[in-house]
Amino acid sequence: MKHILALLWFGSTLALAQTPPVSATATPSGAKPPVAAPTPAIRKNGATMQMMVDGRPFLMLAGELHNSSASSSEYMKPVWKKLEAMNLNTVIGTVSWELLEPLEGKFDFTLVDDQIRQARAHNMRLVLIWFATWKNAVASYIPLWVKTDLKRFPRVQSKDGVGQEELTPLGEESLRADAKAYRALMRHIRAADPQHTVIMMQVQNETGKLHDSRDRSSLAEAAWNRPVPAELMNSLAENKAKLAPELTKIWSANGFKTSGTWPEIFGAGPAADEVFMAWYIARYVGKVTEAGKAELPIPMYANAWLVQNENQAPGAYPSGGPNPQVHDIWRAAAPQLDLLAPDIHLPDFKGVCAKFTRNGNPLFIPEARASVPNLFWAIGRHAALGYSPFGIESLPEDTPLGPAYKTLAGMIPVIAKYQAEGKVTAVVQDQADQRTQEISFGGYKFSFAFSAGGRGLPQAQAQAAQAAGGRGMPQENRGFALIVNTAPDDFVIAGQGFSLTFAPDTAGPKVAGIGTIDEGRYEKGVWIPGRRINGDENGGGTRMQMRGQGVGIQKVKLYRYD
Ligand code: DGJ
Repeated sequence: MKHILALLWFGSTLALAQTPPVSATATPSGAKPPVAAPTPAIRKNGATMQMMVDGRPFLMLAGELHNSSASSSEYMKPVWKKLEAMNLNTVIGTVSWELLEPLEGKFDFTLVDDQIRQARAHNMRLVLIWFATWKNAVASYIPLWVKTDLKRFPRVQSKDGVGQEELTPLGEESLRADAKAYRALMRHIRAADPQHTVIMMQVQNETGKLHDSRDRSSLAEAAWNRPVPAELMNSLAENKAKLAPELTKIWSANGFKTSGTWPEIFGAGPAADEVFMAWYIARYVGKVTEAGKAELPIPMYANAWLVQNENQAPGAYPSGGPNPQVHDIWRAAAPQLDLLAPDIHLPDFKGVCAKFTRNGNPLFIPEARASVPNLFWAIGRHAALGYSPFGIESLPEDTPLGPAYKTLAGMIPVIAKYQAEGKVTAVVQDQADQRTQEISFGGYKFSFAFSAGGRGLPQAQAQAAQAAGGRGMPQENRGFALIVNTAPDDFVIAGQGFSLTFAPDTAGPKVAGIGTIDEGRYEKGVWIPGRRINGDENGGGTRMQMRGQGVGIQKVKLYRYD
């Protein structure tokens, strides 16, 4: 049911269209283009939603560039090599409106072509961010001809009356101009990239209204006092039983009215303001998305600057951006979008993932800290389509992310197959000083005993951190495991920083014995066996041990006896 909803709400690219014919002369390199590949899409596959690239499930093992990097091909030259060495299969690059259309109607695609050419040359795919009307809730990336024409491209207003460099989402001319430029971009990519190096687009960046919970411009004030569009009310009525609890609370406080102005239906506080802003911003982003998809219907998403803590009011974070409390509004206003994504710079990674996957929203994390445990959590627990640390080119080339990406890349076909069957999960130590964790999975109880949490630290530092209740232990040192139940009694476990024992969790013989353990790796989904693990390496046949440096993979076959 969850996924049927997802299909209805995010369905626009799910009906696959083949790539339209492309010009034979339009590749960035000028070379003859190869035969067009199937258009990337997000599809339901059994129990999960999957990103399809070249007609096969794909996992975006990605990184997002710093904001200004892709504005210079020269600057990017050494970066591409470095990212390839870090085993990324996807880069999140950028296209800014100011550089794409420096003069109205005059487009320059040089930087787009360069990113496509370089990504291809380094065996990577691209997700491109459209930096246009919104970039972190301001409009710094709009071209100068837009910035300087405040009459044609009106701004938001805050209560204090001080001007802001942010366009009001109610500016129809702004929407037209943004959508026209985005459409030109997607038309160009369609022609220049028949191989679909570009697999997904982020439309705008971290939308919302800062400094005030609502736009107070004359356009916005007039809309605030007009009836809430029937389109929204119908959608809320249809989905009433499954709305986000935060939204239900606001709507119910005013008696679940089905018609009236915004304050009449949602009240007059900041929460109502956020709903109002979400509707108009999402409508704008949806229309821009629609213009782009008319040229090239690849998956497109919007990302959120998250609420930083529960005491923050809308306006302290961008009001109306795609945060979970207004996801239902975004779905109603922008059905053209395939998903709503969190930029996770907060410590509660697990909590954010849980909220963003409510009601079937596929998880993609375009910005995060580079954390291998969190990467495994997103993929194992939430079938994330991808994970992407921000400022990827600043990481050291020997970041632990590199080997982790390599391990996961080889496993993609395996993960995809068993995710579709609902047979993949993950365990991640909550805090670096948590000692044990238990889960039930595939008919067995898995008991994890984590390494001291000081993995990788000098011994004295690890002991001091342990004595201080875990303070000082890098979160990076948490133990983690991705578990795939490949057959009854058979499990593939990829991870680091734990030992693991098994017990039956169903009726029958009471003891779970370890039949065999093999270590190895996957290459393109094919198992390449290494050592047979036994003796000292599995505690004399009593446990699996994955304490070592780097992410390992072990296959275990269990059996039962009394
Ligand atoms: C969030 C934004 O989305 C990014 O573009 C970037 O500015 C980062 N913050 C910086 O941490």
